[in-house]
Amino acid sequence: MKSGIFTKVIARRPPLSLGGGITAAGLGSPDPRLALIQHEAYCEALRSCDVEVILLDAAPEFPDSTFVEDTAVIAGGRAVITRPGHPSRLGEAELIEPVLSRYLEIDRITPPGRLDGGDVLEIDDLILIGLSERTDAEGAAQLCGFLEHDGFSCGNVPVAGGLHLKSGVSYLGNGVVLADITTAGILPLSGLEVITVADGEEYCANCITVNGRILFPSGFPRTRDILACTGLEIIELDMSEFRKMDGGLSCLSLRMNI
Ligand code: GLY
Repeated sequence: MKSGIFTKVIARRPPLSLGGGITAAGLGSPDPRLALIQHEAYCEALRSCDVEVILLDAAPEFPDSTFVEDTAVIAGGRAVITRPGHPSRLGEAELIEPVLSRYLEIDRITPPGRLDGGDVLEIDDLILIGLSERTDAEGAAQLCGFLEHDGFSCGNVPVAGGLHLKSGVSYLGNGVVLADITTAGILPLSGLEVITVADGEEYCANCITVNGRILFPSGFPRTRDILACTGLEIIELDMSEFRKMDGGLSCLSLRMNI
């Protein structure tokens, strides 16, 4: 299955309560109004990549709910609704299911499994699942059980640093991976070209490829210049307010090719 080709994405507006979410970033409180502006730019960038954006209303009772990627794993025509690993985020899974069920067959991670979508990296037919503070072996095994039916092979990897596996790595398509040096060192990436992010620019290891363009956080010029070798157009987006809440660029969307 080819990665990075999408027709629709689901995003959820950040709530005014954004600053009440979980974070270890130590970068101060986010400005929710600026976050909303940055989110609008994110959605607009996706539209410019010929993707339909299904934009959901903010859910102020869940401060982290703009990070929709953690609530489901979409692969092979199905959506596996996750069971987020932090108790304050459990209810977000229920919130996302009605919209996903309009488009995809639904499966669910069930107790006692725990899994955040941010820990799931799709590299064509290979699914790497990061075991982290949010995702445990039971959650990973359940996900694997669903996806192996669809022809994916799955493997678990330890998350060495950062919140999620994808905090440190992104698949850019065409056999190219972008990763920070620590994450690159632990992943089974033989046969792939690995680009490591510039020292001090680790945050930008999280980005997404959409229909031949890379959506990339602004403020990381050395890595951006290295990425020019991919030949892909790069769209830079200010992620400052989401970064304060430990959110990466991929966290803001659930991407589908249907
Ligand atoms: N603030 C995003 C998360 O911790 O899940």
